[in-house]
Amino acid sequence: MQQGLFDTTDISTLEQRVHELHDIIRRADYAYYNEAQPFITDKEYDDYFHELQTIEKQYPLLLFPNSPTQRVGGEPLKEFVTVPHEIPMLSLSNTYSFAEIEEFHKRVSDGLEGRSVEYVAELKYDGVAISLKYVNGQFVQAVTRGDGEKGDDITQNVKTLRTLPLIVSPPLIDGIPLYDFEVRGEIFMMKDDFININREREEKGEKLYANPRNFAAGTLKMLDSREVARRPLHITCYYLFTKQIELVSHSQNIAILGAMGFPIGNAQQSCSSLNDIYSFIDYWHIHRESLPFFIDGIVIKVNNLSQQKELGFVARSPRWAIAYKYEAVKETTLLKDITYQVGRTGVVTPVAELEPVVVAGSTISRATLHNYDFITALDIRIGDTVSIEKGGDVIPKVTGYIPEKRQEQSMKFMFTPICPCPVGSTLVRPEGEANYYCDHSACPWQLKRRITHFASRDAMNIEGLGEKVVDRFVELSLLHTIADIYDLHTHKDTVFPTLERWGEKSTVNLLSAIEESKKQPFSRVLFSLGIRFVGEGVAKILTRYFRTIDDLKNATLEQLVQVPEIGNRIAQSVLEHLHDESEWAIIERMKINGIRFETVESEMATLNTTLQGKTFVLTGEMVSMTRNQAGEEIAQRGGKVSGSVSKKTSYLIAGDNAGSKLTKARELGVTVLNEQEFLLLLSE
Ligand code: IVH
Repeated sequence: MQQGLFDTTDISTLEQRVHELHDIIRRADYAYYNEAQPFITDKEYDDYFHELQTIEKQYPLLLFPNSPTQRVGGEPLKEFVTVPHEIPMLSLSNTYSFAEIEEFHKRVSDGLEGRSVEYVAELKYDGVAISLKYVNGQFVQAVTRGDGEKGDDITQNVKTLRTLPLIVSPPLIDGIPLYDFEVRGEIFMMKDDFININREREEKGEKLYANPRNFAAGTLKMLDSREVARRPLHITCYYLFTKQIELVSHSQNIAILGAMGFPIGNAQQSCSSLNDIYSFIDYWHIHRESLPFFIDGIVIKVNNLSQQKELGFVARSPRWAIAYKYEAVKETTLLKDITYQVGRTGVVTPVAELEPVVVAGSTISRATLHNYDFITALDIRIGDTVSIEKGGDVIPKVTGYIPEKRQEQSMKFMFTPICPCPVGSTLVRPEGEANYYCDHSACPWQLKRRITHFASRDAMNIEGLGEKVVDRFVELSLLHTIADIYDLHTHKDTVFPTLERWGEKSTVNLLSAIEESKKQPFSRVLFSLGIRFVGEGVAKILTRYFRTIDDLKNATLEQLVQVPEIGNRIAQSVLEHLHDESEWAIIERMKINGIRFETVESEMATLNTTLQGKTFVLTGEMVSMTRNQAGEEIAQRGGKVSGSVSKKTSYLIAGDNAGSKLTKARELGVTVLNEQEFLLLLSE
């Protein structure tokens, strides 16, 4: 960090430094996100980032719209502005057979009067189309397809995508620097991210996203770009347009985009015959399963741009390109049984046990049935032949039963509210919920999920202790509680060397990840315990008011509910957990093993205390967060939320439709902040 720079008010030196920082961070982002080859450490990156933020805060003139600091999102918008597309955003006509591709090739050849034609085949990403405008090498606007003629300006949201370059160094094409251009591409999400997000939602009993495209589309329509920044979206680019230069071919355009730092994927293939195209289609039909993202087909484009121009358009599609779509794969199979799966919080989900069947290249023998109401709504019975579908969705779905194949002996599913685990406790369905829960802390099935949660990335981050390994270790009786994780090293020379498909390296890596997890701060440890209603935010608040786990255990219910944002429900759950003898024994064992159950001095110093001693009253509705979330944000910074306005109130946060509290605050001369001002205060 070049702190010395702040000694001078020479704005041009500072401006130069700002550009230098943009450049370093931009290159570091590219190396990290696009190439997975970081060249600076996280700490160095954070220092550069912080230096830039500090300058920008002090000199708002030096805060440029494409600064890397703007990737975290900005003020929530009230609505999106609709803007026209300079060139319409068309769609492709779809084909489903090689015969139709042959017809396409015939139309192209006829259109070009029999001249030879070269094609480029590429993957058809299953996401949301986007148009990106660059002026002077700077990203200025992102617009959705909309109706093809005009779309929504979602620039703020798209800016948060880490792999999208916000500033590009103009490449020289035929000696001319290319700086004004439009790029088109697809915003999508990775399979793993989609599965994880849905799994978490399922565990919490929330509605699942139908497919990754819906998730991406829904995210891009959010008015709060800070939420968008938290979601794992990616982009790939497949189109370049400029008025500056005569471009030659699609493949050259892709190469130019790649050179400018745009993500372009690496599966373009030049095809000079129909057979080349068919092989490409066949290849990806089989291999698309192993791609980390979703494709719903292949796109075939005429490579030469002047030939493209010659061919032109018909209706709303180009004549020079076509999509070959892989159909959603459907299969039917026997529903042998319906079993239950138990999640970390004890939520119980019914699972279809199927006669194994190959759907889109993978063998399916189980599929979720969500909840009891879902089964009744579809009237699915054990012994039915059911249809299984796997399309853009990763998770195979049971979509219904085949009435003609229903046998007389097919059995209506009778739900028995007993946990399927060996303990077999009675399940409960809380009022207003679709799910049943197992309430027993010794349930071994819950245990597996609890351990997985404990070891997961946002919790203790123990790499190598994922779901499969946890299941295996529980079954081998190596793990009975989360505390056993820290005794795994005792099996280093005895059990581990005897395990199948488990090498010495696995042991070494796992044990070192476990050791490393002992450095996690108290707030993470508390979150990792998996106490119901204690998410990351609540854990942070609790650990700031109670320095040690013993302090927290010894607190009374009254003391706990005094803590900002901690209500009866959370307080009770925390006390129940910590006063449960077996839970406490687990904690004591982990304490001995060096897990951090207290906040140390040095961490206290880094606590965010920007709102310490301030009292807030919240009124009206905010766009970007709920009142509960606002309360958590305030509490995490040391502030308090109160229900009524008095002279002692530091701030009244007035959302939309604020009522009498606002009038009272004005009478008493209390500072009133609108949502934007409040967000600014939080970001200090
Ligand atoms: S080219 C003039 N290439 O599929 C058409 N599109 O219905 C330009 N898509 O709107 C589109 N991957 O949203 C093209 N490699 C690719 C694509 C792709 C996905 C999407 C895009 C387009 C739709 C076609």
